[in-house]
Amino acid sequence: MSLKVLIADQFPEKYMNKMTESGLEVIFQPKLGENDLPEAAKDVDIIVVRSTKVNEATINNAEKLNLIIRAGAGVNNINIPAANRKGVYVANCPGKNSIAVAELAMGLMISIDRRLPDNVADFRNGVWNKGTYSKAKGLYGKNLGIIGFGNIGKEVAARAAAFGMNVYAKDISRVEGYGVKDFGEMENILPMLDIISIHLPLTDQTKKLFDRNMFKLLKPNAILINTSRADVIDEDALLEAIEEKNIFCGLDVFAGEPEGKTGEVSSKLMNNKNIYVSHHIGASTEQAQDAVAEETFNIIKEFINSGVIAHWVNKAKWDDEHYQLVVKHYDKPGVIAAILNVIKKDEVNVEEMENEVFAGGLVAKCTIKMKQSLKVDTLQEIGQIEEIINLSFVQV
Ligand code: 3PG
Repeated sequence: MSLKVLIADQFPEKYMNKMTESGLEVIFQPKLGENDLPEAAKDVDIIVVRSTKVNEATINNAEKLNLIIRAGAGVNNINIPAANRKGVYVANCPGKNSIAVAELAMGLMISIDRRLPDNVADFRNGVWNKGTYSKAKGLYGKNLGIIGFGNIGKEVAARAAAFGMNVYAKDISRVEGYGVKDFGEMENILPMLDIISIHLPLTDQTKKLFDRNMFKLLKPNAILINTSRADVIDEDALLEAIEEKNIFCGLDVFAGEPEGKTGEVSSKLMNNKNIYVSHHIGASTEQAQDAVAEETFNIIKEFINSGVIAHWVNKAKWDDEHYQLVVKHYDKPGVIAAILNVIKKDEVNVEEMENEVFAGGLVAKCTIKMKQSLKVDTLQEIGQIEEIINLSFVQV
């Protein structure tokens, strides 16, 4: 029986055809919204979305659901805790739309510096205003701070360097290489930046990162670009900063963004002349959408063929201290069961396990990760199992 894939957002036809040709049943319903998804997804194995929200009701209602793919980078529109509770894989397509987002970030910088949207609006109204629009500062030699130095941040850095800007970056880990300078703490650098471009995922740490305190650090007339997620900025604090310091802002995302592709829009930012908003189009170039769709198809293919989930975002992280047992054994039926039976006596839970076989198939290596230590006696007992060649037990 073929797997059912529900695509609940726009998706290039070419890649839907590839899915169908490879034996998948594709249900293409790009107009679905968060509230229609629980019913539409109830019988599917895989859901593919862009910005459509996958809420808990969808995940709970879809009994066969095994995999949700975010055809894009950010996964904040998927209820990951609900997916974790049901053992539903969540994967994304990182890096595939980075160039498109970086191009938009550069476009917003130029648009603000040259006031391109106002130029166009005036022209369409029959107004000539060369005097006003001849007052741009230029981007060359300006200090640009990139907040979030992942795939997108790096693409912005490359383009900004070509513009002759001084590029600084900040990330969770230290920024090295790429010809940019790490700026450590925000307090050190924000006061000297002419332009700030945000490229952060939305997490508990980044939510409302740009609050009143952060805006206090900005230089007057600074330009802030946000092509990441609306919630990293406190919009009230932004409006105050515009009032107090004449900050300019280019946003591809804002609070209360409509879920659909067309319709009315309303935002507290809409009448402010210092704010330029694009319609969440960062990822929406043909090239980027093709790259994302191809990656989506690859994830599904690999999942079907080998059970491996590429870019599996809700896999438990093993950053915490843990214990690792590596057992080399003759690859015969029942060996792993025998090892696990001994571990069970210590009431230690196995968290992760992988068995890999040497060429020729005679010997295998079984790696078992756990959060608690095993007793010395237990390890000795495992070592005495007949097919065991050797073992090691370490704290990682
Ligand atoms: C992403 O996270 O990849 C971007 O925000 C793109 O969103 P979209 O697929 O809705 O255009």
